[in-house]
Amino acid sequence: MTRVSVIEVGPRDGLQNEKAVIPTEAKVRFIELLVAAGAREIEVGSFVSPRWVPAMADTSEIFAALKPVEGVRYLALIPNLQGYRRALEAGCRNVAAFTAATEGFAKANINSTISASLAQFRDIAARAEKDGVAVRGYVSTVFACPYDGPTKPSQVLPVVEELIEMGAYEVSLGDTIGVGTPADVERLLELILPKIPAEKIVMHFHDTWGMGAANALRALQMGITRFDASAGGLGGCPFGKVATGNVATEDLLYLLHGMGCETGYDLEGVTLAARELSQYLDHPLASRVNRAMRLW
Ligand code: HMG
Ligand code: MG
Repeated sequence: MTRVSVIEVGPRDGLQNEKAVIPTEAKVRFIELLVAAGAREIEVGSFVSPRWVPAMADTSEIFAALKPVEGVRYLALIPNLQGYRRALEAGCRNVAAFTAATEGFAKANINSTISASLAQFRDIAARAEKDGVAVRGYVSTVFACPYDGPTKPSQVLPVVEELIEMGAYEVSLGDTIGVGTPADVERLLELILPKIPAEKIVMHFHDTWGMGAANALRALQMGITRFDASAGGLGGCPFGKVATGNVATEDLLYLLHGMGCETGYDLEGVTLAARELSQYLDHPLASRVNRAMRLW
């Protein structure tokens, strides 16, 4: 049986883009319920500018409130050295540094060029090694950019290689605006996988055009065993213009369990976590599995 890891990014990627103000205690409860449902790697927030993303301003409080659980890693997104310092102060030991495959998105999302962001991450990775902090990398807009149009796989590979070379333990490839199809997944992974071991690549699908599960299946067939997903299908990127949430954790789990993969998650527990959180949202959950389980 194939073991597949699902990294829960709902508390960060999901909640960063919700218009409703969600109380910090509700976010902490959401994370605790996700841990109870089997999540072992959870992105709980980000140390970005609170002016750019007000919804993530309480990430330090979330870290303060979370109790350590054996075998559970709490991650946070950082855009720069200031974010790294804030993460360390909050007690975060797992950071995710994010850049893009396209200049238009790097400018809109982090007000930087790709090369300037990589130069900062090189510095951060060197500090993190000394501090014993694990660094994951993210590359956004791997299939298309809302500003620059379609992305070529050859634009993605050098950014991934540089992040791995500077010490990222893995790189998550983001279909930020959720437009890719399984053919795009295939083209990208055909270029990446001969150069980078599959276990260092994570796929991060947004489900804007409904391709999240289909794309995950194609990646799984090509040897990828690590995926990001968001409980309930929450959220999207505030600077991706036309993006909706990530592929829902429940939808991905239904696919994976149906394919005979072992994830360590309890599907029903994830739907309950998303449903409890949804009382704070101003829209219904996007997850199809969550909806189906209510009909059942
Ligand atoms: P900037 O305005 O160019 O920054 O923003 P700056 O260096 O000129 O600083 C401006 C102000 O921000 C200063 O404060 C800094 O102290 C402060 P002031 O002096 O004006 O009071 N500042 C910070 N404050 C707190 N934490 C920090 C920080 N850095 C500077 N870390 C910056 C540059 C990177 C800060 C900004 O663009 C930013 O925060 N961007 C983050 C945007 C974001 O969070 N996007 C969503 C996450 S990425 C995503 O969703 C994609 C992903 O899911 C993968 C995918 O789907 O593709 C990961
Ligand atoms: Mg994302």
